[in-house]
Amino acid sequence: MRIGIIVGSHRKDSQSAKVGRFIASALERRSGVSHWTLDLGKTPLPLWDEGLFSQGEQWSALPALKAQLDDSDAFIMIAPEWHGMVPAALKNFLLLWGAGSELSHKPALPCAVSAVDGGAYVITELRMSSYKNNRLCWLPENLIARQVKTICNEDERLNEEPQQKDFSARCEYTIDVLIAYANALRDVRALGIFDHETFMNGA
Ligand SMILES: Cc1cc2nc3c(=O)[nH]c(=O)nc-3n(C[C@H](O)[C@H](O)[C@H](O)COP(=O)(O)O)c2cc1C
Repeated sequence: MRIGIIVGSHRKDSQSAKVGRFIASALERRSGVSHWTLDLGKTPLPLWDEGLFSQGEQWSALPALKAQLDDSDAFIMIAPEWHGMVPAALKNFLLLWGAGSELSHKPALPCAVSAVDGGAYVITELRMSSYKNNRLCWLPENLIARQVKTICNEDERLNEEPQQKDFSARCEYTIDVLIAYANALRDVRALGIFDHETFMNGA
């Protein structure tokens, strides 16, 4: 079982990346689970353009990323709430993939990050408008890192006990749910029932 963590902040040293590291360490405690991370703040992708379909030079790193996605069974998508929205870098990432073997019919856990008590807007936005063409399957569960500066810090003295305890428990639970869906959706993909040529873009 391989799980990809996508960090959706544009910032090179983001709170979202910190949350990603915390989630990665939770994954490491599970046997048979490996993980990798794409931090869009540290490794930004070009904005979508037509060169995507003609091997444009700006897209030279894409085959390696595609191979990582193809090899993944599930994803954790981390979106900081910015102006009540998902940052453009993550929306752009979701725009790059169609009904191929990268994201389609694979489960994803949406994880929002907020400096205060926000986060719900980005969960709603991801569920509403980010899966039609790439066929990503959002889990019915979500994770929200509220008051993010008080949780997931490597220096544990910076963590506030009640928030850290609640987030950790929720993190463990949602990862278990994600792994269960990842196992189940492997079988769904193997059914061979998907016809993405006739029904290309869900219209
Ligand atoms: C441009 C911008 C807009 C933001 N808007 C919101 C917001 O609407 N709601 C919220 O809870 N936090 C907002 N924040 C605070 C982020 O939640 C906070 O920066 C948090 O650390 C996550 O962002 P990061 O992963 O980029 O560090 C905003 C931050 C930035 C940089």
